[in-house]
Amino acid sequence: MIALHAVEKAAISAPHWIAHRLMGTFLDIRPETPADRDEIHRLTTAAFAPMPFSDGNEADCINQLRADGDLTLSLVAVDEGVLLGHIAFSPVQLNGSFDGWYGLGPVSVWPHLQRKGIGKALIEHGLGLVRARSARGCILIGDPAYYLRFGFIGDGRISYRGLPENVVQWLAFGNGRPAGILTFSPGLE
Ligand SMILES: CC(C)(COP(=O)(O)OP(=O)(O)OC[C@H]1O[C@@H](n2cnc3c(N)ncnc32)[C@H](O)[C@@H]1OP(=O)(O)O)[C@@H](O)C(=O)NCCC(=O)NCCS
Repeated sequence: MIALHAVEKAAISAPHWIAHRLMGTFLDIRPETPADRDEIHRLTTAAFAPMPFSDGNEADCINQLRADGDLTLSLVAVDEGVLLGHIAFSPVQLNGSFDGWYGLGPVSVWPHLQRKGIGKALIEHGLGLVRARSARGCILIGDPAYYLRFGFIGDGRISYRGLPENVVQWLAFGNGRPAGILTFSPGLE
């Protein structure tokens, strides 16, 4: 767990900014600005490069989402002006229509900074902001061993390109349940 300092608790009340205490320092999580874009591309490329499932296009996908107006939420984790991590959220369709569900990802942390809680902080804060937009929930393709801890479930309610059901995962913010064939925004397809 990330312990919250009193100053950080005050920061949480700000709508688009939060500070987590991490590694003995403050970790700011805020929306991207145009000045972050090149570094987000470098970070995403570096984070996915070692991953066997990567097609090497994740960083370009973020640029495409942005260009298409589909980057619903793009958050960066920053420490003393240095970008440490990034997460993107974009609308998805189920059976060909948008019904309040958002795709989580790509999410990236620099390889040498992984396993320090930065990814968790980005995911939890991002989910909170997406939820605040009256979203029904989030959907992602990912390793269940990681996303189970956030409450994601892969139970076959959603299908995506013949992938195993446990990697096509969803998290509902209310009582709604997703079902059907998943399509991501064009930038991710
Ligand atoms: C996935 C990622 C964003 C997580 O960020 P992070 O800051 O390293 O994660 P955290 O420190 O919050 O969490 C660490 C925990 O997640 C686990 N974990 C990290 N990446 C994992 C993965 N790909 N699969 C399964 N578990 C993973 C670690 O084993 C650790 O588990 P533990 O707490 O039981 O020891 C980061 O590892 C990353 O950038 N990976 C490369 C890009 C990627 O795979 N993105 C996700 C695609 S679905």
